[in-house]
Amino acid sequence: MKDKVVVGLLGAGTVGGGVIKVLEKNAADIAQKAGIEIVIAKVLGLDIEAMQKEFGDKYIYTKSFADIVDDPEIDVVVELIGREHPAKEFIQEALEKGKNVVTANKDVIAKFGKELFPIAAKHGVDLMFEASVCGGIPIIEPLRNVMSGNKIKSIMGIVNGTTNYMLSKMSDEHLDYDAVLKEAQEKGYAESDPTADVGGLDAARKMAILSSLAFNMNIDLDDVYVEGIESVDAVDIKYAQDLGYAVKLLGIAKYTDSFGASARVTPAMLPIDHPLATVNGVYNAVFVKGDAIGEAMFLGLGAGRFPTASSVVGDIMSIARNIKAGATGRLGMCSYREKRLCPPEAMTSPTYIRMRVVDKPGALAAIAAAFAAQSVSLRNVIQKDNKGNTDIVVITHSVSRANLQMAIQILEVLPVVDRICCVISVEDRSLE
Ligand code: HSE
Repeated sequence: MKDKVVVGLLGAGTVGGGVIKVLEKNAADIAQKAGIEIVIAKVLGLDIEAMQKEFGDKYIYTKSFADIVDDPEIDVVVELIGREHPAKEFIQEALEKGKNVVTANKDVIAKFGKELFPIAAKHGVDLMFEASVCGGIPIIEPLRNVMSGNKIKSIMGIVNGTTNYMLSKMSDEHLDYDAVLKEAQEKGYAESDPTADVGGLDAARKMAILSSLAFNMNIDLDDVYVEGIESVDAVDIKYAQDLGYAVKLLGIAKYTDSFGASARVTPAMLPIDHPLATVNGVYNAVFVKGDAIGEAMFLGLGAGRFPTASSVVGDIMSIARNIKAGATGRLGMCSYREKRLCPPEAMTSPTYIRMRVVDKPGALAAIAAAFAAQSVSLRNVIQKDNKGNTDIVVITHSVSRANLQMAIQILEVLPVVDRICCVISVEDRSLE
């Protein structure tokens, strides 16, 4: 009978360091709650001296993965080095050698999860990944376990803190995109290369994971339609506010029996009384609709040392309980459904479009005709003076992405349209 669960930690940076500190600080309670003591034996990192200085002499520090994966004492490998490689290979080898694995790595789970989960199942070990989506928010475990009796109909999430911080600042302080991006970088929220955040890729990885879990099929990263917030201007946020909406970068995943699954990341307008519209700053939130639970929202910090460590430590404790009960490997990814993706013509939403126009007779008629030619019905049309230029803002009734794209192509070549400035979907059921 084991008297402790032994952990090998890969990475002692922001999150890894947080895991060490949480396991030290709350050790006695964690042992009580897990029913067994949990100890870190070895820590993998590049700067051994720095690790010794920060975490003391309690641990064996190593630069060699083999020291950890080939150590028969180690039960759980915790991967916190990030990025795709060599993290994926480390996880795979650990599973193949019968180690349980905890990871916070959304890049690996979104891209290689469908390869790794069968390996974990084959070897009867756990692969846990709560921290890979929205850091400290418990959402993986609820989808995998607590809510798994539901048919999940949809998930809408603010799953990227950097962009939520930026959009909140643009909204509250009427600042321009470039100014808020610079501030987000200075505060350390946005990466020095913020492309994955502002371009929507970080959110798309998280939505690939969440939608796969929610709909029990492998939704690949390439299946997620992605648009970032680069084209959203302070003026769009102002117009949205005037119309009663907040602008958010939303991950939206839906499933219907008739059409199958869809997943996308797009800037979206939400009625200001929607629970997600009140989630501001670096906070993340996930809003789930299920046939039994109704609506539920999960809110918290999606990144940062201790929020992310909270999820990692929770996963280690779940594995510790499973080890104690001789029941590892009981909870897989559960993608038992054939992938069936909603065709683009069935993915519809009302849409906001702002275009810069030449203010002359017939402009509006030409624009209306372009929409009519693609059977796009208009709900609101507003002409605005924008710093000496003329903008026309249109909100359509529900339109398929295919029809909208064709209407936009026609608009782009109209002599009266200078350019299409911004396109934002409107998630307002009262308009559908
Ligand atoms: N860069 C992410 C965010 C955190 O801004 O939310 C890690 O996924």
